[in-house]
Amino acid sequence: QTKEERKRELERRRELAAEAEKTRARVEAQTEAEAQTIAEAKTKKLAEAILKEEEKRANDPRVIAESERLKTELTKFWNDKKDSPILKQRQRLPAWAKQQELIDAVERNQVLIVAGETGCGKTTQLPQFILDNAIWQGRGAMTNMICTQPRRISATSVASRVASERGEQIGKTVGYKIRLEGSMSSSTRILFCTTGVLLRRLTEDPLLSGTSHVIVDEVHERSLDSDFLLVLLRDILPHRPTLKVVLMSATLNALAFEDYFKGVSAVSKIPGFTYPVNEHYLEDILQVTEYQPNPGTEYFKKAPRRRDNFDASSRPVSSKDGDIPDEDSFNITLRDKGYGDNVVRALRNLEQGLINYELMTLLISHICESMDEGAILVFMPGLAEITKLYEACGANPTINAATSGGKYLIALHSTLSTAEQSIVFDHAPDSVRKIVIATNIAETSITIDDVVYVVDSGKCKENGYDPNTRMQLLLEQWVSRASARQRRGRAGRVQAGRCFRMYTRHVHDTVFAEHTLPEIRRVPLEGLCLQIQLQRMAGGIAGFLGKALEPPKVESVEAAVASLKRLGALDERECLTPLGQHLATLPVDVRVGKMLLYGSMLGCLDPVLTIAAVLSGRSPFVAPLDKRDEADLAKKLFAEDQSDHLTILNAYNGWQDAKKQGRSSEFAFTRENFLSWRALEGIADLRNQFTQLLNESGFLGSSSKKKGGGRYRGRQRGNVLETDVDWIRANRNSENKRLLKSVLVAGLYPNLIKVDPGSRPDAPPRLSFLAENGRTEKIQIHPSSINFEAKKFITKWLVYHERVQTTAIFVRDCTAVTPYQLLLFGGKIEVQHTQGTISIDRWATFQAPAKVGVLLKEIRNQLDRVLAQKI
Ligand code: CDP
Ligand code: MG
Repeated sequence: QTKEERKRELERRRELAAEAEKTRARVEAQTEAEAQTIAEAKTKKLAEAILKEEEKRANDPRVIAESERLKTELTKFWNDKKDSPILKQRQRLPAWAKQQELIDAVERNQVLIVAGETGCGKTTQLPQFILDNAIWQGRGAMTNMICTQPRRISATSVASRVASERGEQIGKTVGYKIRLEGSMSSSTRILFCTTGVLLRRLTEDPLLSGTSHVIVDEVHERSLDSDFLLVLLRDILPHRPTLKVVLMSATLNALAFEDYFKGVSAVSKIPGFTYPVNEHYLEDILQVTEYQPNPGTEYFKKAPRRRDNFDASSRPVSSKDGDIPDEDSFNITLRDKGYGDNVVRALRNLEQGLINYELMTLLISHICESMDEGAILVFMPGLAEITKLYEACGANPTINAATSGGKYLIALHSTLSTAEQSIVFDHAPDSVRKIVIATNIAETSITIDDVVYVVDSGKCKENGYDPNTRMQLLLEQWVSRASARQRRGRAGRVQAGRCFRMYTRHVHDTVFAEHTLPEIRRVPLEGLCLQIQLQRMAGGIAGFLGKALEPPKVESVEAAVASLKRLGALDERECLTPLGQHLATLPVDVRVGKMLLYGSMLGCLDPVLTIAAVLSGRSPFVAPLDKRDEADLAKKLFAEDQSDHLTILNAYNGWQDAKKQGRSSEFAFTRENFLSWRALEGIADLRNQFTQLLNESGFLGSSSKKKGGGRYRGRQRGNVLETDVDWIRANRNSENKRLLKSVLVAGLYPNLIKVDPGSRPDAPPRLSFLAENGRTEKIQIHPSSINFEAKKFITKWLVYHERVQTTAIFVRDCTAVTPYQLLLFGGKIEVQHTQGTISIDRWATFQAPAKVGVLLKEIRNQLDRVLAQKI
């Protein structure tokens, strides 16, 4: 063969390949178009069937009889209960006055946006107005309403409130459904559920057959789920002419929603009434009249994301600019209580976003001691902070004295049971001060009527994106000015109130954002992308997200899709793989989800649960500044196999063992080993949640999959499962640390570090990683890792979770892994038969017989088959 011939041959092959590629693309486009036509026809047929079914039901004698029964019952209820206090209370709500107007508006428009202040009666009244109107008109049994709530706790509490307003048990006319829990029956006409529950229902019932009304509550919160739901609903509307949609918002700005449903929507406003609320900023509370903010203050230590909102050149604010509270009614003499000249310093600390529990308890006890009657509502960012303040208040004699004899120090957060949280509505007896310490759940979802004083930490926990781990996390944040206004408003429900803000006017004006960013703009989109594919929306991921109220950035969408492909959740055509199918239904970060699924399939669930919990929360190791060396030493005692993850696992298991010996040995253990008890408890709690999720999705074997009511509660769950055959099966390989490391790779890949031996025998190894830009970059191990300053690594590769950039690029926790552990579950395998090498994602190359590559692929396929079987 001449050179010329070879060249021509090569060219011909290239042409052929290009031709083949064109054909493939054409066929693909064709099948896609065909699939779309088929899907459209299916939707049309379904829509027609729904209309026919409705017609049939309207003429069904049983349905007519049921409507009659409802009417008789309602007539009787109004005759008997006309003067009951709960009905009188309903009639005093601002929404009551607008009843007819709201009913008419729902009749006339397919989409209605109802805007009204928190507490005016939207959530509890509107569903009843619609239902009662239908009942009076003899269409009661044809009404099937779904009302979504942003949180589990609001779904359950509102449902029980509405049921009791109707004089009924929950689960009859009024029911609720939240993940793993619910109470409803065939006679349920109003169903309160979380947004997630409705989204899941839509995957099976895309046109919501049988549903007459969808009410989306708290749309102003702009959660990912509710924004997602709105896109779906807007697509459904043309196919379901009889379906009514009501959006409810606590902010009066409804323009964006009206615009989104242009042509089919209208707005109804419920005027609210609140008493004036006096506001006191931190400098007022501390009585610093000449306060000048320090321009060099680093305002956003804990949440650098919003640093850009801070303009250091902005106007310094002194409390003279605003209304100084009158001295008589308001004199916390903090100077006497040990603050002395440190007031200004305390203030500066607070400006940096630290919560000062001492100051907060002083303030609360001051209100208890010297201010008029009325409940106090304290806003804290999260459960941990609530607990801390709760304990601090309990230790404070003035607050304690005020609450002695009754449990009127009340914590309110989203993990309480309905019964536990219903006590916040109880009024305190005379001379007992009711103090509610709450998360932002009390901002709009739950209204406590007797609040006169609001103490606002200015903080909340928001779903955010951690750039170090590229994972979705709850982050502590300053609230927005809109939230701060909303919180202040909670004090003026029964009489003029006061709002104490634990931040300076300066921080409020210059650091707080005006509005909270919609969630879709601030969280990683992996979970949402999976959801979209689960709904099998035409137009794919990008097409769907383009239709959102506020579409996310194209780059974020592309990054999410790329990461899902690397993880094996989406295939090349962006369709869900079996793994993706399962991950779409697990409400955890996708990488954590993958580890959980692999851990359960491979029989090493127990350790994987712990590691997954640590990755989603925080490490239990603490290192106090003055005892850092001691703490590091203690940590090293748990070290195993050059793995920080196994080290944490050992510490957790040690704690569990110590716990069995009793409380004192438990505390001794945590103290001696520099472990945070709270963090360990947090891990235990997450483990329980994960177990429950896996159990629900059938990954804990069939015999333990409890349907409906069967759920494991609280701490007992672990005990139940430890003797369970499925639990034993799921842990048949739990002692196999090599397998465990493979599962770790499954979740953490492509977070990979390559170890090169140093240039001289005694030089430290050189570490590098593959950066996003495709280049290899240097990386170092953080001093807190057990692998810090390791002279020699047992393997050439490390996987890691978190990467931080400070003076250099650091990894926090890392684990040495062998090539086989990497090859088993990390990235795409390519086998070069001719050279006898196997590589993953072309970056990491290993010498191995080609046979091994074939075997590895077979193992992966087998796992995929297991995943596919479980769908
Ligand atoms: O949804 P919106 O904020 O407009 O108000 P709502 O949740 O319907 O609450 C209206 C009123 O019902 C509140 O002001 C409370 O007085 C009362 N309510 C209650 O006492 N107990 C509940 N669990 C819920 C509401
Ligand atoms: Mg509401």
